Amino acid sequence: MENSVLFFLLSFCFVANQVLITNVNGDEQHRLVSALYVFGDSHVDAGNNAHLNTPAQANRWPYGIDLYNITGRFTNGKNMADFIATYLDLPMPPAYLNLTDFERSQITTGISYASGACGILNTTGVGECLTLSKQVGYFTSTVTKDLPKAINDKEKLQKNLANSLYLVLIGNNDYSERMSNKNVTNKYCPQDYADYLLNETSGHIKTLYELGARKFVVLGISTCGPQNYTKGCESRYYVDKLPQRLQKLQSELFGSIFTIYDVYKVYNKITGNPQKYGITNTQEPCYVDHGPVCPDRSKYLKFDQYSHQTQVAYEIAAKECFSGTACSPYTISQLAKASIINH
Ligand SMILES: *[C@@H]1O[C@H](CO)[C@@H](O)[C@H](O)[C@H]1NC(C)=O
Ligand SMILES: *[C@@H]1O[C@H](CO)[C@@H](O)[C@H](O)[C@H]1NC(C)=O
Ligand SMILES: *[C@@H]1O[C@H](CO)[C@@H](O)[C@H](O)[C@H]1NC(C)=O
Ligand SMILES: *[C@@H]1O[C@H](CO)[C@@H](O)[C@H](O)[C@H]1NC(C)=O
Ligand SMILES: *[C@@H]1O[C@H](CO)[C@@H](O)[C@H](O)[C@H]1NC(C)=O
Ligand SMILES: *[C@@H]1O[C@H](CO)[C@@H](O)[C@H](O)[C@H]1NC(C)=O
Repeated sequence: MENSVLFFLLSFCFVANQVLITNVNGDEQHRLVSALYVFGDSHVDAGNNAHLNTPAQANRWPYGIDLYNITGRFTNGKNMADFIATYLDLPMPPAYLNLTDFERSQITTGISYASGACGILNTTGVGECLTLSKQVGYFTSTVTKDLPKAINDKEKLQKNLANSLYLVLIGNNDYSERMSNKNVTNKYCPQDYADYLLNETSGHIKTLYELGARKFVVLGISTCGPQNYTKGCESRYYVDKLPQRLQKLQSELFGSIFTIYDVYKVYNKITGNPQKYGITNTQEPCYVDHGPVCPDRSKYLKFDQYSHQTQVAYEIAAKECFSGTACSPYTISQLAKASIINH
């Protein structure tokens, strides 16, 4: 996770005379990254759940009210992943399940596999959803079956994958009272539960790496401050151990690079000074099931009663991670520019 690690990798690269991809003038037009692949829950679901049998749905008005009424996202407009894609000059990653086989074979700029109410564990969730395991399974299919149809050259495809960004924004629901499975959570003390989740996340990241992924943004879940392990803040065990875990992965997975998106930093920033962002209501949701929708969504932090946020909140989060202080040790902008060693 330290600059020295990247520096070491780079100098090693020169010494070993390996191929260094500098993506600034790469062959993928003039984009910083080739694609944005999204793994996660409702905060970044782009419409996968609309194709599943689940009560966790955003397939109706007023979801998407500020995005031409396109439903399927759990907010009034764009979500965090959509904004990040926009900043990278990429199209908003479409929902995997909303694509035809033909579309899947054409898209080379990224896909969202994220699914509302789902989590890191297979046992997390209500109704049908795409567990992280299934999301990675679909990505495997994208890499082995679909992408080769559009990028008909193995080396080019690996370059493209190494030069893409991978958002792994999942784990909220594994800590949710409603979504997590008590049979599982009760088996572990909070420290061990965090280790279990970290073990699972690490395993899935390894699979993504083996398929060609290198640049990762991983979610730090908690809205409580560092070292705060009080009731309702148990996810801090996960967040506080995450940097060390990713550092270990970075040293094991040659050429990989990680940054952590810290939800707490954004949450703290917005609630600490909402006026700065034009937000006047940080407490109430803009919309409650079957009720009216608030007329000015840009003044609210929360969109619905399920703790999904408004477009404006997701925009702040995306900006703060892209070039602000919410993502460390690298901003997304730095991650996008980082040179990756091909091997
Ligand atoms: C799903 O696909 C249909 C057909 O292409 C499109 O009209 C709709 O906007 C898509 N939904 C989302 C959420 O992208
Ligand atoms: C979105 O849907 C609402 C409710 O059906 C409708 O009143 C509104 O005109 C629609 N807006 C757009 C841009 O289509
Ligand atoms: C989760 O489910 C997948 C199938 O979707 C299975 O291959 C995997 O072993 C399961 N993981 C655990 C920890 O049970
Ligand atoms: C928990 O385990 C019990 C006993 O095996 C089972 O009946 C119940 O359905 C399980 N609950 C969940 C949420 O999986
Ligand atoms: C996590 O993985 C480590 C290493 O494989 C193992 O020793 C440990 O028991 C696992 N922890 C949990 C809670 O599953
Ligand atoms: C821990 O977080 C909770 C919930 O945000 C807060 O009420 C409490 O004051 C925090 N405690 C410490 C010691 O920071």
